[in-house]
Amino acid sequence: MQVRCLSLLALAASLVNSTPSNERKTCTIQASGTNVTDDAPAIRAAFKECDRGGRVVFNPVTYYINSILNITGLQDVEIDIQGKLLWSTDIQYWLNHSMSVGYQNQSTAFILGGDNLEIDGHGIGTLDGNGDYWYEWIRKQPNTSNYPGRPHQITFNGLTNSVVKGVNFLRSQMWTMSIIHSHYSQFQDILVNNTGNRFQSWRVANTDGADTIFSSHILFQNWTVYNGDDSIAFKANSTSIVLKDSRFYGGLGIAIGSIGQLKGVSETVENISAENIYFENTLHSFYVKTWTDDQNGYPPNGGGGGLGYAQNLRLKNLETKGMRGAAFSISQCTRFKGAPGQGNCTNSQFQLRNISIDGLKGTTKSGRVASLQCSAVAPCTDIELSHVDLKFENGTSAKSYLCGNVKENKGWECTGKVCEGGSATGEC
Ligand SMILES: *[C@@H]1O[C@H](CO)[C@@H](O)[C@H](O)[C@H]1NC(C)=O
Ligand SMILES: *[C@@H]1O[C@H](CO)[C@@H](O)[C@H](O)[C@H]1NC(C)=O
Ligand SMILES: *[C@@H]1O[C@H](CO)[C@@H](O)[C@H](O)[C@H]1NC(C)=O
Ligand SMILES: *[C@@H]1O[C@H](CO)[C@@H](O)[C@H](O)[C@H]1NC(C)=O
Ligand SMILES: *[C@@H]1O[C@H](CO)[C@@H](O)[C@H](O)[C@H]1NC(C)=O
Ligand SMILES: *[C@@H]1O[C@H](CO)[C@@H](O)[C@H](O)[C@H]1NC(C)=O
Ligand SMILES: *[C@@H]1O[C@H](CO)[C@@H](O)[C@H](O)[C@H]1NC(C)=O
Ligand SMILES: *[C@@H]1O[C@H](CO)[C@@H](O)[C@H](O)[C@H]1NC(C)=O
Ligand SMILES: *[C@@H]1O[C@H](CO)[C@@H](O)[C@H](O)[C@H]1NC(C)=O
Ligand SMILES: *[C@@H]1O[C@H](CO)[C@@H](O)[C@H](O)[C@H]1NC(C)=O
Ligand SMILES: *[C@@H]1O[C@H](CO)[C@@H](O)[C@H](O)[C@H]1NC(C)=O
Ligand SMILES: *[C@@H]1O[C@H](CO)[C@@H](O)[C@H](O)[C@H]1NC(C)=O
Repeated sequence: MQVRCLSLLALAASLVNSTPSNERKTCTIQASGTNVTDDAPAIRAAFKECDRGGRVVFNPVTYYINSILNITGLQDVEIDIQGKLLWSTDIQYWLNHSMSVGYQNQSTAFILGGDNLEIDGHGIGTLDGNGDYWYEWIRKQPNTSNYPGRPHQITFNGLTNSVVKGVNFLRSQMWTMSIIHSHYSQFQDILVNNTGNRFQSWRVANTDGADTIFSSHILFQNWTVYNGDDSIAFKANSTSIVLKDSRFYGGLGIAIGSIGQLKGVSETVENISAENIYFENTLHSFYVKTWTDDQNGYPPNGGGGGLGYAQNLRLKNLETKGMRGAAFSISQCTRFKGAPGQGNCTNSQFQLRNISIDGLKGTTKSGRVASLQCSAVAPCTDIELSHVDLKFENGTSAKSYLCGNVKENKGWECTGKVCEGGSATGEC
């Protein structure tokens, strides 16, 4: 893959397969047909056989995944998903065996990576985490979100110059997908539905739609996400990312972070754009969360003291229906609940700068258009808002812009002091 489009608007790869489909070696995976027999060995064998210039086909049947899959280093492979991959319900197995994602002490059930891959679900191919079992189980645990070993459904690691399209991701065990060390790739026509059949998705924490880490030049287009946490989140070293033409239901909206969790470590988020996004019943449309400067414990549930910045974040044409909280929110007070001393909400060294939202309209249940709680040590600068028109159901405009330590605001005035307090979801 030689052609790299560097423009922000056309940054993902245009896939150029070196081998035409009909000349490819094809590995069609036979399914066992029963969840008593693990289909993962057959899947591993097919990817081994067709890992260079091949084509791997999942038939229109159910494949039972009872063990971890770590499939990386593929080269020029078409992955044709016509059926469903269904993960097993053996929670104890997954807690014991899920693999490291490589960030925040997070874990995963499936690692997939390679160069020049085309993964096509044709709108029907489905990955199903069998999350009903996880949602039921996590509610009974002391750590209801970041339970050690609770796996992401899939982690794209080392995915480059690739396309993932027309795939449905249902009821993820935890985050739906982490995208790490991946570049020049696009994810389009994706449905994430983490609505539980036994519990409503908004009651289940950490069912993120997608999270990017150490990744760049990624395009997300035409996503639909139903979940109970970040609709999509850009974390450490996510740069040159475009999100467009997407719809988010019930979750927290577009997130930056959490970030700044690792003491003394520098991380950045830069050149992110989001355009034409519809939010229904989400908590925010856009929010940023950074840890405080006080380190307490280690990830995933503790941390703090990180360095770095998020800059050049541009959002355009956002439409809301029944927004539940501040449409735009910043909290620099993510901190570990169990720790003594609690941490100081205004001492983060992580800086937020050059953020603009142009076009934010629709209905809200909150009077707060913005709630921006920034650091006194590294204040938020250059925050611009334009074409804002948020209304309550009765037609009255939402008018409150709360802030602390914001400088160089453009197109809006601060109307009051923001609440300073611990927060994992953007407001205290
Ligand atoms: C197999 O399916 C049955 C029925 O849906 C379910 O009760 C059981 O937990 C499943 N077993 C595994 C290992 O996924
Ligand atoms: C998981 O690990 C625990 C503790 O080491 C062990 O008791 C249990 O048998 C393991 N279960 C599975 C399914 O691997
Ligand atoms: C996955 O497989 C790759 C290649 O064999 C290996 O380098 C990596 O350590 C494995 N990852 C995990 C988490 O086991
Ligand atoms: C968006 O993706 C969905 C599948 O999730 C598909 O049905 C629809 O046709 C796509 N829309 C466009 C405009 O491509
Ligand atoms: C999402 O899943 C829930 C639970 O199975 C289902 O009721 C709902 O229709 C699904 N939504 C979409 C858009 O597929
Ligand atoms: C993340 O970005 C920062 C700032 O550019 C850099 O110092 C750091 O090495 C990067 N981390 C990784 C793991 O790439
Ligand atoms: C972000 O965009 C600016 C302006 O287009 C560019 O100069 C800069 O190198 C980009 N940063 C990264 C990390 O790609
Ligand atoms: C993972 O957790 C362990 C134990 O809490 C901690 O020592 C380690 O630093 C953590 N690793 C990362 C990368 O956060
Ligand atoms: C819950 O999280 C805390 C903090 O990370 C950790 O010390 C504890 O071991 C966890 N408990 C369980 C049951 O995972
Ligand atoms: C602010 O970000 C925009 C992209 O969102 C970029 O074009 C512009 O150059 C940035 N301004 C500064 C002063 O860096
Ligand atoms: C929190 O940190 C800021 C910045 O260092 C400092 O000005 C402030 O006094 C601290 N607040 C408390 C309660 O310690
Ligand atoms: C409209 O609804 C808001 C929020 O419930 C309320 O504060 C406001 O007073 C209402 N305005 C009118 C004119 O009824």
